[in-house]
Amino acid sequence: MLKIIIGIIVIIGLGCAVRGVFHLRAVAARNQQEMAPYFGEKPAYTASLGKTLVIYYSKTGHTQAVAQRVAQYTGGELYAIETQKPFSNVPWLALSLRRQLKSGQYPALKEPLPDVSAYDTVFVGAPVWWYTAATPLLAFLQQMDFKGKAVVFFSTQGSNYGTYFKDVRAKAKNARLLPGAAFNNLDASYDAAVDNKILTWLNGLQTAPEKEVLVGEQFHHK
Ligand SMILES: Cc1cc2nc3c(=O)[nH]c(=O)nc-3n(C[C@H](O)[C@H](O)[C@H](O)COP(=O)(O)O)c2cc1C
Repeated sequence: MLKIIIGIIVIIGLGCAVRGVFHLRAVAARNQQEMAPYFGEKPAYTASLGKTLVIYYSKTGHTQAVAQRVAQYTGGELYAIETQKPFSNVPWLALSLRRQLKSGQYPALKEPLPDVSAYDTVFVGAPVWWYTAATPLLAFLQQMDFKGKAVVFFSTQGSNYGTYFKDVRAKAKNARLLPGAAFNNLDASYDAAVDNKILTWLNGLQTAPEKEVLVGEQFHHK
């Protein structure tokens, strides 16, 4: 009997491992396809977005890296959303963050929140957690009024941003939405291409319609 149970566990484990390998290969192929157009020469920055603020939440640095590049190109100022209490690195953290998302009990944030009235364009970025926005960004959006400013959302994620953009757009009070962009975490060999993707996205914003069309949307799971 024990042998049968162990056999079943081994088969399930192997099945998961094989599925994992196929998933990783599919993601790598999709990343390659999405980023292929950005491997050329670095475009010049031509956007005129006025006075710019780049608001971001980042737990492990990926979103911060994109935010810093956006601020660098736009000449914008950075504002980091921070929780009052840091998240503890317990093994069940991912599940406890999922509970936060499901219950709507988001973490308390450090204050003061930024005043956007002095800016023309406001970028807002965060990681994707469980196919939607990280809870600190959701907490931030509950308290924020964008006062009619142009707002540009961005995300970073492993491979699947789920309903992130739909969710944050619906919660952005008095925002005039410009097209956002989603950034999968990629290895260093993509650094220059990511830079080019950021520049291409920024350059497209000045003439962009107010309808959200995500950069590279066709390469992502919905
Ligand atoms: C709790 C949790 C849930 C996540 N859920 C997703 C997800 O649904 N889809 C995805 O592609 N990546 C997911 N990720 C990966 C993060 O979105 C990704 O690593 C992100 O770039 C981290 O950003 P940061 O370094 O700025 O914190 C998740 C990460 C965590 C910690």
